[in-house]
Amino acid sequence: MELPLPLLLGSLAVAVGVWHLVFRRANKLPLPPGPRGWPVLGNLPQVGAKPHHTMCALARQYGPLFRLRFGSAEVVVAASAQVAAQFLRTHDANFSSRPPNSGAEHVAYNYQDLVFAPYGSRWRALRKLCALHLFSGKALDELRSVREGELALLVKELARPSGAVALGQAANVCATNTLARATVGRRVFAVDGGEGAREFKEMVVELMQLAGVFNVGDFVPLLRPLDPQGVVRRMKRLHRRYDNMMNEIIRDRKAAKEGKDLLSVLLARMQEQQPLSEGEDGSITETDIKALLLNLFTAGTDTTSSTVEWALAELVRHPDVLNKAQQELDAVVGRDRLVSESDLPRLAYLMAVIKETFRLHPSTPLSLPRVAAEECDVAGFRIPRGTTLLVNVWAIARDPVAWPEPLEFRPARFLPGGSHAGVDVKGSDFELIPFGAGRRICAGLSWGLRMVTLMTATLVHAFDWDLAHGMTPDKLDMEEAYGLTLQRAVPLVVRPLPRLLPSAYAVE
Ligand code: HEM
Repeated sequence: MELPLPLLLGSLAVAVGVWHLVFRRANKLPLPPGPRGWPVLGNLPQVGAKPHHTMCALARQYGPLFRLRFGSAEVVVAASAQVAAQFLRTHDANFSSRPPNSGAEHVAYNYQDLVFAPYGSRWRALRKLCALHLFSGKALDELRSVREGELALLVKELARPSGAVALGQAANVCATNTLARATVGRRVFAVDGGEGAREFKEMVVELMQLAGVFNVGDFVPLLRPLDPQGVVRRMKRLHRRYDNMMNEIIRDRKAAKEGKDLLSVLLARMQEQQPLSEGEDGSITETDIKALLLNLFTAGTDTTSSTVEWALAELVRHPDVLNKAQQELDAVVGRDRLVSESDLPRLAYLMAVIKETFRLHPSTPLSLPRVAAEECDVAGFRIPRGTTLLVNVWAIARDPVAWPEPLEFRPARFLPGGSHAGVDVKGSDFELIPFGAGRRICAGLSWGLRMVTLMTATLVHAFDWDLAHGMTPDKLDMEEAYGLTLQRAVPLVVRPLPRLLPSAYAVE
């Protein structure tokens, strides 16, 4: 008896479906291994005060790809260059959004920013805008005099005989004012810091601390309304302070004449009722602008200044390295002027110092989280859809398999003939990814790297450095304080001693 065609096709489809289900289930890879967690909270109580350290130790026990559970959320941690490359190169498209979190909701204008925007046209448009006006080779070159000018002011300030200086704070004022001139057309602080500057740095550090907390409410929906760690309450307060600051900046910019900075361009587009990107509904809003500026001011200031502070701390602890860097600078720049950006390509040793600093002190040790859009298989394990990915860039850069004597500060490893000659920080050498990698790599990489390099070069060239308060280099506390960014637990306090001809310190 012949079966009617639709029935035949139907049965065939059912058979294929059943076969597919059975076959796939039988062949499904296991989930990555990981420590048992508590009921309800999972592994949250185990991450400790320095999650990147805890997760580094867990990788030693469970391997470079392991699994945690935060409340109801599945989390995987990548802790070797090979595994990070699997996620951020092979499977990058699948991990190009960030998981939902209360910071994005309560601080970053409910995901209306660039850092937390879901992967898609809006995110692409925001990145394009930043590239066009700030970070492309052309934009970066056009803003060169702004960076050099602010650095000259920092040097002038440090050259005043005023005794001990908190270096991180001074570097932060410089990084913030430089970025502010590029983005909103003016400085936001008096050059000598002062109350406003201190308050702003504290705001950024608090934001990074809050963003670094694993907020129980994000992972255990039942506990969300209780806000058990008080994180959301602090986020809302912080958001109000930021929002007031942004409102003030925008009001001032509107009152001033048109400029060439990013804010002027965005305000003009808003007035012309242009959308954020072609094809997008609705015109660009003031909230879009505030959210983007918030990202730039928070992601782009403390990351830069704390890296410079770590670099100087390492150099003070390693006088031989400081000496070599100064010799190179004297040979390339001389002693009668400050470093300029055109000198940087000739400062190979200094560049190695910067890489070694990013290796040991990456400013975002767990990078920023990503989320799996679909289920996928990575390094022999199954990663379910919706899993949060953390990449422990701190642990990867200290992995003894990839780095001989990983805890030693040894810039020479990056020089020709060294074990890591040719390795750079721009996202293609996965053993060193302080800026992340893949589609969502740091949008401000070019700016951040340029600022860190120029600032460190300028400070090393213009001054000798003594520790203040009778501290000796061997006793210098190198302890970390964890937030989303890695602060020094004890700020570096130094005495800068000018070492160039007096004319080099004169700023018109
Ligand atoms: C020392 C300097 C810096 C370091 C180490 C750093 C590091 C990072 C890292 C690790 C990420 C996450 C990347 C990922 O998901 O794979 C990131 C994202 C980002 N960074 Fe940076 N950053 C620095 C400076 C800056 C600067 C100067 C700016 C802007 C002025 C900036 C703006 C951003 C933005 C907007 C994102 C989000 C990109 C996206 O989601 O598409 N960063 N950064």
